[in-house]
Amino acid sequence: ELEWALLPRGEISQVEGIFLEKNTCNIWDKIWNFQAKPDDLVIASYPKAGTTWTQEIVDLIQNNGDIEKSRQAPIPLRQPFLELVITTYSGINQANAMPSPRTLKTHLPVQLLPPSFWEKNCKIIYVARNAKDTMVSYYHFQRMNKTLPDPGSWDEYFETFLAGKVAWGSWYDHVKGWWRKKDSHPILYLFYEEMITDPKREIRKVMEFLGKDLTEEVLDKIVYNTSFDVMKNNPMTNYTNVRMNHNISPFMRKGVIGDWKNQFSETQNKQFNEDYEKNMADTSLLFRMEL
Ligand code: A3P
Repeated sequence: ELEWALLPRGEISQVEGIFLEKNTCNIWDKIWNFQAKPDDLVIASYPKAGTTWTQEIVDLIQNNGDIEKSRQAPIPLRQPFLELVITTYSGINQANAMPSPRTLKTHLPVQLLPPSFWEKNCKIIYVARNAKDTMVSYYHFQRMNKTLPDPGSWDEYFETFLAGKVAWGSWYDHVKGWWRKKDSHPILYLFYEEMITDPKREIRKVMEFLGKDLTEEVLDKIVYNTSFDVMKNNPMTNYTNVRMNHNISPFMRKGVIGDWKNQFSETQNKQFNEDYEKNMADTSLLFRMEL
């Protein structure tokens, strides 16, 4: 805890008008020129959409439900986080050192994904979560995670998020951009809310997309082992590390739909809804914000 308190906060800067961690911006050429391989799988998302959950589901499907195999290393070592750079960790180096087939995580907006992934026609799984719950989750994440700037008060953060002045940019541009791309590229577009409602159905979708065929028994085992409570207690998925202070807010925080109702004021909700309507007028994308 003392160590956490002494760590400096990470900063954000910009690439092509998108806010990203400064460490990422500093090596942008290296990221942009990353060489993908045709059998790479990408898990893409806006932060706090359920990325880690999707990652663990994918890993267990790839390992045919073998729990021991999936628990050999923390998730960023099993599935490199492409654009992340912190002290000794570099997602790019991690990926380059890894044998194929590789699974890579990214939060990059669609226009910033290294072009090599399109050229090699890599499969991509995108996961999206409704904006209100994403915003609340992101706020608490920035409070506890020193790699990102201090979010300030909730009221301040509300404005920062709506203005898209957070790492990885505007939620709107992100979810809409990836949604459009799926018409011309193999992208499985998942929704956090659907995963909560019927995890087995969504896990089966992922399995089929990966061209795997698992028994009902194995699928049930994966449903269980990727449940919120199991992942919260699994040190390989719950992000226990020095940069995160889980006493401020645990990484595995609540894992529900509609927690925004405990955070948004009535005025904020009204302001949000007006902004949302404007920004979502040009897309067929629909989100559920409550159960
Ligand atoms: P909350 O902060 O709302 O609890 P990401 O992995 O993209 O950073 O997303 C983190 C969010 O997903 C957190 O949301 C976390 O609790 C939730 N999450 C992680 N694993 C989950 C699971 N197995 N089931 C439901 N939610 C999960």
